[in-house]
Amino acid sequence: MSQVLSQQIETAYREKFSTSAKLYERGVSLFPSGVTHDGRYLQPFPIYVERALGSKKYDVDGSEIIDYWVGHGAMLLGHSHPAVVEAVQQQAARSTHPGACHELELIWGEWIRKLVPSAEQMRFTNSGTEATLMALRVARIISGKQKVIKFVGHFHGWHDLLTLIIDTTNSKLLSWAERSTLPSLNWLIRHLVNCEITAQNSSIAVCENSC
Ligand SMILES: Cc1ncc(COP(=O)(O)O)c(C=O)c1O
Repeated sequence: MSQVLSQQIETAYREKFSTSAKLYERGVSLFPSGVTHDGRYLQPFPIYVERALGSKKYDVDGSEIIDYWVGHGAMLLGHSHPAVVEAVQQQAARSTHPGACHELELIWGEWIRKLVPSAEQMRFTNSGTEATLMALRVARIISGKQKVIKFVGHFHGWHDLLTLIIDTTNSKLLSWAERSTLPSLNWLIRHLVNCEITAQNSSIAVCENSC
């Protein structure tokens, strides 16, 4: 894309989402990169949403936006589906965090096993980071293998083993020596050098030969 065209797009974006631009200034002083999840980081600034319904988001500048992101994939029924809203409202009035066992967790777990028969037992987690951290731990204990294959550019959470090579703008495979020139990652690389194999996307051969 030519520089002139990209400048025109940025100018139009800044005009259309001017309230988001102001809110982002507050975000920058509060959060790393100005956002509460790196998936929302966008240059020159992200869009602030005021509400969402069905397949649409409505931003603070009054735009209606088709939502292709759907809550990181979690909003299968769309935003604020009436049945979900009703269930959440009813349950929130009964308890917000009982800190105890509850029959609903059994019903939820039984549903998951019905939908995913291979999930004989499960552990609920609060984030994808926690889920992949625990999955790797179990896999390494059960397999007895130390190394993990990580595909370039894929994001699987914040914990050490999966943090490297998330950046798709620099998705070429870096050698360990090249990576250790990145100062912010230096300590992590020393820690991981014997644990991780990175692979270009779809590189089945790496999977077959490295494990
Ligand atoms: C495939 C995948 N794994 C893990 C994660 C990490 O999830 P979380 O941001 O909830 O820690 C994400 C987040 O987008 C993801 O898409």
